[in-house]
Amino acid sequence: MASQKIFFFTFGVFILITSSCSTPKPIFNLGEVPLIPLPTNVEPSDEILLIDHIKSIQVKTLEPSLLRMADDLKSFWKNYTKNELTIVTDGEDHAITFEIESENFDEVEAYELQIESDEVNIKAGTAEGIYRGIKTLEQLVVLSHLHANSNFLSLPGGEIEDHPSFEYRGAMLDVARHFFSVADVKRYIDLLSSYKINFLHFHLSDDQGWRIEIKSWPKLTEIGGQSEVGGGTGGFYTQEDFREIVQYANDRFITIVPEIDLPGHTNAALASYAELNCNGKATELYTGIEVGFSTFCVDKEETYEFVDDVIREISEMSPGPYFHIGGDESHVTPEEDFNRFMDRTLEIVKKYDKIPMGWYELITADIPEETLLQYWAKSADFSKVIPKKSKILMSSASYNYLDMKYDSITPLGLHWAGYLPVKKAYDWDPRSLVPDLDADQIIGLEAPLWTETIEDFDDLALMAFPRIIGHAEIGWTLKKRRNWEDYSQRLSYHGSLLDHLEVKYYGAEEIDWK
Ligand code: ACM
Repeated sequence: MASQKIFFFTFGVFILITSSCSTPKPIFNLGEVPLIPLPTNVEPSDEILLIDHIKSIQVKTLEPSLLRMADDLKSFWKNYTKNELTIVTDGEDHAITFEIESENFDEVEAYELQIESDEVNIKAGTAEGIYRGIKTLEQLVVLSHLHANSNFLSLPGGEIEDHPSFEYRGAMLDVARHFFSVADVKRYIDLLSSYKINFLHFHLSDDQGWRIEIKSWPKLTEIGGQSEVGGGTGGFYTQEDFREIVQYANDRFITIVPEIDLPGHTNAALASYAELNCNGKATELYTGIEVGFSTFCVDKEETYEFVDDVIREISEMSPGPYFHIGGDESHVTPEEDFNRFMDRTLEIVKKYDKIPMGWYELITADIPEETLLQYWAKSADFSKVIPKKSKILMSSASYNYLDMKYDSITPLGLHWAGYLPVKKAYDWDPRSLVPDLDADQIIGLEAPLWTETIEDFDDLALMAFPRIIGHAEIGWTLKKRRNWEDYSQRLSYHGSLLDHLEVKYYGAEEIDWK
């Protein structure tokens, strides 16, 4: 009897030791991974996936975009696990499998991610859904890698079911006040896509600079592209550059929204072509930061030839549905002229098969019902939107503007809309911010980064991060699943992720950074 007890005791200890050696515990339970955006539903299981058990990526649905994603995930996996995966199309165990099941998913971006002891499955109704699922898996891997003290050997099992709260989750970059290179824009796109942002609005022209080559009006970039705030040399995207950015964004399921701000904010164009001015004289290039002093000449036919050529050339390079025509702060364009100008410009947008988008000031014109209006500041006029039933994109200066200083000692940024600390930027609801609007008018939210004081990528990153991460969660995660206490805990793990990527961020004191 005694020897039997000794045998069972010894055997038990042996099993305990071998099992704890062969299945190292993941650093997080699946229900506690500090994922951002927080998924819709997470069901942890007792299973553990050993990283070394994964041998391949299996692309069950043969779509070129899935094969490209498999290639990208293969590089990612090598980077974080050292393991070299093969890409296969069928019959593989021990695989990360991508499968499109259109009949099982109603929403374009919805996906399921299952992690079992020897496989991972990502299922969705579309390639875009698969992509969102891959981003969740990658975040789980990076967070595990960074927080397991380089001893990252396993992932927690379970299932995630996920879909976004809003269809439009955007960022805006002002490349007119300061120019940003193609490489900078791609780097921003990578970061945005890792947090499931799906639109990048490009503010391509303003008083201080014209940033996109227009072949039929070459002086726009020869003259208007050569200035920026503070007197720097500016810069511009050739059409090849622009196409490259659009493709790069497209591959990451981010739609580029081009904006040419009209009829105000146009000094760079007015300085490039004398004939666009009512008095026939070109203006001087402008490098200050005042707004509201420029306007196109509404009564000249050349103005509309110009607008037509610009919208045509940019639309040809932009597969996305929207063309943004600005419309903000046209303080020196009388309202009647503004409306006349916009009526013709809206016709041109329609001619090139785009949905018009504009800052809320567009509401005084006769806008088509499908127009997407961008709310940025409180205005008595804004209630006029309601009868038009237009869709609204929330970009409140007080909650969304990434160029607002965090606090009084932030070295960069402006504060005309107040300070925007990390908690304030997170803790609000786009569907109820403006009481005049119906919740179902709100298509989503967009965080603009105006660049009067932002000169390079480090500046951009310091103002965007971490606020854009909270913004991404507001866009993706259902309101009832979100609260500041839980979010700020999860965010505390993302500082090391940004450090690892050498992305600057504002180390807000209210976060207990891990
Ligand atoms: C804006 O901030 N002028 C849209």
